[in-house]
Amino acid sequence: MQKETRPDAGIFVIFGGAGDLTWRKLVPALYNLFLDHWLPEKFWVLGLDRAKMSNERFVKHLHEGVDGFSRRGQTRKEQWKAFSEHFAYMQADFSQAKTFAAIAEKLAQKEDQWGLKANRIFYMAVPPRMIETLSQGLAEAKLNRDRRACRIVVEKPFGHDLDSARALNRSLVKLFDESQIFRIEHYLGKETVQNILAFRFANSIFEPIWNRHYIDHVQITVAENMGVGHRGDYYDHAGALRDMIQNHLLQVLCLIAMEAPTSFEANEVRNKKVDVLHTIRKIPEDRVPEYAVRGQYGEGFMGGEQVPAYLSEADVAENSCTETFAAVKLFIDNWRWQDVPFYLRTGKRLPAKVSEVSIQFRQVPHQTFPSTVLLDWLSNRLVIAIQPEEGILLRFRAKNPGPGMRLSQVMMQFYYQEAFKTRPPEAYETLLLDVMEGDATLFMRADQAESSWSVIRPILDFWENSKPADFPNYQAGSWGPEAADILIARGGHSWLMPTMLECDEGTATCQVKTVPHQ
Ligand code: BG6
Repeated sequence: MQKETRPDAGIFVIFGGAGDLTWRKLVPALYNLFLDHWLPEKFWVLGLDRAKMSNERFVKHLHEGVDGFSRRGQTRKEQWKAFSEHFAYMQADFSQAKTFAAIAEKLAQKEDQWGLKANRIFYMAVPPRMIETLSQGLAEAKLNRDRRACRIVVEKPFGHDLDSARALNRSLVKLFDESQIFRIEHYLGKETVQNILAFRFANSIFEPIWNRHYIDHVQITVAENMGVGHRGDYYDHAGALRDMIQNHLLQVLCLIAMEAPTSFEANEVRNKKVDVLHTIRKIPEDRVPEYAVRGQYGEGFMGGEQVPAYLSEADVAENSCTETFAAVKLFIDNWRWQDVPFYLRTGKRLPAKVSEVSIQFRQVPHQTFPSTVLLDWLSNRLVIAIQPEEGILLRFRAKNPGPGMRLSQVMMQFYYQEAFKTRPPEAYETLLLDVMEGDATLFMRADQAESSWSVIRPILDFWENSKPADFPNYQAGSWGPEAADILIARGGHSWLMPTMLECDEGTATCQVKTVPHQ
């Protein structure tokens, strides 16, 4: 997590080199690391895929991706040229042993040319069903042997449920040491998500009030305005609970709820996070509807345009029961959090793309001021804005100027870009650099992945066995099904409008607020 020097020489072998993830995320991230001088002088990327392609065609394809998706916008000719010299492509059939023998030979040649041993990172940017074949192939070619230098990176979804995640872990640890396995959870690479640790444990003023005595409840919202796009095939077998709650939202919850680690050593931080997952109260199998709600979007209007229902999206089954929205209420059974509800919600085709954590504090124990001076009954709220704007906001009461006593709400605001005059790096930049350095703090350990599946297991089972009667139950462009409002209302709460949004109820449009920059 703490970088002062560049990592040692490194080779990235990307399985799925011609795929979407490599194109949109991995190579743009590597390019920005290159421009920021974080990549070692000796680095090489070998892309592997089924398609037949020359090196030139491969590099041209990557160039288009970087132009389209790099946070810096279009590339500059000289910079791209210097960067692209580090790439090569190989057509490969992953089911053949000779593919892995050829990889081993190419890596050895590159190291001979450099005259040194490099870190070898095998990135599995492929569908989950191929992970076992690839790890087996690597092991047979002895590419797993050097525990210090050989690492594999496994993308989510890590398993489809608890049993498959366990089975996958078992098969990986037969071939690799846990320290060689980097399970990517890209939310942990987001700057604001990492900043939750700094905010909580590098400041002394929040810790005394970070508990059930002061906090009334916590809401974690990860809303997306997009539909499933071209990922219908994957998504229809996953759904919002597996795709988002099992990993991203639960990891954010862990950072909010964990105890202070004694150091930032990877295992210490991960131990504290796993402790949270272990203490989440098990949802009783026969009472799932009291704790979890699902939804699927119907057609609707977004930004003035009609958008199709989930069932009309490409590669989605005709009568699909897959949820595109999920809301869950969780409790953490320990001294700090007993009886404080954590409400998590996520969905596609919600009014805007916005991710926020709201810590809602309790009301003052006694109202000193008469109700006539209060312009509202809102209590203090701390908002951790994760995206698109990144910042921390604190809402509290202040006296309105002028004679007499009138109290209203004001916001104290910190925005990253405003404070540090720079856009934070993309999550994948942080994570790729960490893999190169062998730092696993921001990656999922085997037990973390399994514990997350355990938390949602009763919901998965219940939903699997009782088909929803009311799908589609929310309109594209709305905040999800009514049942989600009822879920939270049962606890005496209501969903908070993300602080970073300005919504016009009349036209049903929401916009992210403009933040003062520079
Ligand atoms: C991915 C999910 O893990 O995260 C996608 O598979 C989702 O369905 C994406 O859209 C959201 O990530 P971000 O960084 O855009 O919030």
